[in-house]
Amino acid sequence: MVEPFASTTDRLIVAAEPRSLAYEEVQALTKKGFFVCIEGLDKSGKTSQSILLVQALSKKGYDTVYTTEPSRGEIGTFIRKYVLHRRERVPAVVEALLFAADRAEHTEAEVKPLLKEGKIVVSDRYVYSSLAYQGAAELDISWIAEINKPALEPDLAIYLDVPLEVVFKRCRHGKSVMERPEVQRRVQEVYQRLVREGKMIAVDGTRPVEVVANHIETLVLDKLKHQTA
Ligand code: TMP
Repeated sequence: MVEPFASTTDRLIVAAEPRSLAYEEVQALTKKGFFVCIEGLDKSGKTSQSILLVQALSKKGYDTVYTTEPSRGEIGTFIRKYVLHRRERVPAVVEALLFAADRAEHTEAEVKPLLKEGKIVVSDRYVYSSLAYQGAAELDISWIAEINKPALEPDLAIYLDVPLEVVFKRCRHGKSVMERPEVQRRVQEVYQRLVREGKMIAVDGTRPVEVVANHIETLVLDKLKHQTA
């Protein structure tokens, strides 16, 4: 059987250390903006890594903005209450439509304008979460992709890879309907498939926080430089 993450991880370990850039260089690299999203299971550490990435890139002179889904807007706030924090899951089709609506608004109102201004946008979850979480609930993945057509294709999509056992431990007191072991197991399968298909890049999230953060930063800077080369 093919080891899903081997090739990606091997290639990434040898990535060169990024160097500090001059102001003009930063401006040239981010003229079109850059969109990166960080994905993973619940409690995988992706929020911490998203924030660390924003801090690291900002320190290097890149105008970088953190954003998240479900969004902080009205639909996102509604989703947290109505979909995530209740006793039983609502039908997956309802989840998918609500997340897609939130994403369409988030994309139009926040992500696109920020990219237009040449910013780096770091999204803590994006369309891959719908493919994974709602796809894992037996919905047709191509239909989920269809209703998410207003979403952008990120310049880089990272899957923070953490074993299920770690997630189970951290989710023990979890209140969200998604944090149940059977849900996380199926979600992981979809994420792993997306990595195998080359749609996302896996990053080993079991290493010390700062090692993972450096790895993610290197990936972003490499992609940014190759994209504009
Ligand atoms: P978080 O705030 O810890 O990232 O949790 C958000 C939860 O919402 C998480 O369990 C994943 C879930 N979710 C979906 O099921 N579909 C989606 O499209 C998104 C963005 C999140």
